Amino acid sequence: MEKKKTFYITTPIYYPSGKFHIGTAYSTTVANTIKKYKELRGYETYLLTGLDEHGQKIQTVAEKRGMTPQEHVDEMANLAKELWKLMKIENNDFIRTTETRHTKRVEEIFDKLMEQGDIYKGQYEGLYCVPCETFFTETQLVNGKCPDCGRDVISMKEEAYFFNMKKYQKRLEEFYDEHPDFIEPAYRKNELFNNFIKPGLEDLCVTRTSFDWGIKVKKDPKHVVYVWLDALTNYITALGYGSEDETLFNKFWPADVHVVGKDIIRFHGIYWPIFLMALDLPLPKKIFAHGWIMMKDGKMSKSVGNVVYPELLINRYGLDATKYYLLRTLMNGQDGIFTPEDFIDRFNYDLCNDLGNLLNRTIGMINKYCEGYIPEYSGCINEVDKDLEEYTLEQIKVSEEHFENYRIAQAIQEIWKIIARTNKYIDETAPWILAKSENGKEKIESVMYHLAENLRKIAILIKPFIEETSNKIFSQLNIKKDLQTWDSLYKYEHIPEKTKVIEKGEPLFIRLNKEEELSYIIEGMKKSL
Ligand code: ME8
Ligand code: MG
Repeated sequence: MEKKKTFYITTPIYYPSGKFHIGTAYSTTVANTIKKYKELRGYETYLLTGLDEHGQKIQTVAEKRGMTPQEHVDEMANLAKELWKLMKIENNDFIRTTETRHTKRVEEIFDKLMEQGDIYKGQYEGLYCVPCETFFTETQLVNGKCPDCGRDVISMKEEAYFFNMKKYQKRLEEFYDEHPDFIEPAYRKNELFNNFIKPGLEDLCVTRTSFDWGIKVKKDPKHVVYVWLDALTNYITALGYGSEDETLFNKFWPADVHVVGKDIIRFHGIYWPIFLMALDLPLPKKIFAHGWIMMKDGKMSKSVGNVVYPELLINRYGLDATKYYLLRTLMNGQDGIFTPEDFIDRFNYDLCNDLGNLLNRTIGMINKYCEGYIPEYSGCINEVDKDLEEYTLEQIKVSEEHFENYRIAQAIQEIWKIIARTNKYIDETAPWILAKSENGKEKIESVMYHLAENLRKIAILIKPFIEETSNKIFSQLNIKKDLQTWDSLYKYEHIPEKTKVIEKGEPLFIRLNKEEELSYIIEGMKKSL
């Protein structure tokens, strides 16, 4: 058997500081979509997610809850796993940075880097943002506050270990030159390169002594390893790097894509490549950075009272409607705004009218005009058919190109154009008139075939992100597994003779009453605080 190509995708590992809202669920939803797409393209995939459990922030949260940090993160890990199950995230592993398989490797990596001289001991004096676990210089602050989150910083002075970043400046610049697509979208890469790399790297403080919830430096245990050095290595420790069994590591490293939010590009675009260079390991192929899901009044935050949890939407509107909305909302790495109005509109227009009705009408007409059988393919019998085929095949290429580059929102947009075009085809061909005309049989059969075949194609295209809906379409049209493949997208003659569709299909989505649902979502947001 031919060996399958492999594809390794990661999500960020999350801080277990509170329940995950729809914004945090976004990175994972994107990563899962990429995984499903790559599987359809024949890859053997590996999706990693997990939790970033160390650091001062977690210690503080646990203290506030009157728990030990370990008790707190154990509870959070269960919640996270439940959420990913509810969201049908098909992760192959769930790494927690408090697990021995990780902590042991980090100890060893730290030792090795110290022995090599990449890490040295010095004095740290600086300004620290606790929620972001990041040091800043005076000039990096914005109005005296953390440039990333806008909160107060504290001043800290301590003996600490430093990573010699300066040593890798040149190599990093060369790497960026040779790999112009390392970070996407490109404008995010330019931002990082011009603001942080080009001006010259500063050595990075990689230990803390002001708290102890972290991995201790073996040779100097009053120091704990900086949470970002600890966290980033999860991408390789989860694969067994440095353990007795490196099978997964050898098979899947380097990562094909690290999915990250815009706020953590710096860590993935600078520190991570440099740590890997120091370890003499290959660098990931791509960092894909997405924007944030915002609310009308800014960031989602408990204190503002504008947080939306995925369960609120999933339990009432279903997983697919929720994922569809999330994925569709963030375009081209930019932020997008969640509003309940928009959520309901998209549900009603995109899912219910455009997609749901297309299936419904098609099934209805095949039953009415063709006794429930999808007619045989007989090519394009006129310009209308030809135009539909050409348009659809072209759009498939366009959508595929977007999927290949992880531009999920754009892919969805292009797929919905196929849906719109197919709906228009019904109006253009007016089967109800053909049905009454003397020699309309041939034409009506061609129309029914094209509708069924376009729906089959649409079901394949949406499978990476709304799989339940995709399966419902296949099942109502009675499309077998061998015709659910990506490779079967590029031609028209596919559906076998005597394929009998369902007599009366359940609607994919049932239209929502806007007023009622607005108050459900708004009340739900208040209650879930
Ligand atoms: O950053 N919209 O963890 P985290 C979209 N532990 N994405 C959002 C978002 C929003 N409103 N809010 C958060 C960390 N995110 C580190 C990662 S990786 C080695 C360590 C995204 O829990 C955010 O951009 O703060 C990030 O990608 C992810 O949620 C986890 O954030
Ligand atoms: Mg964060």
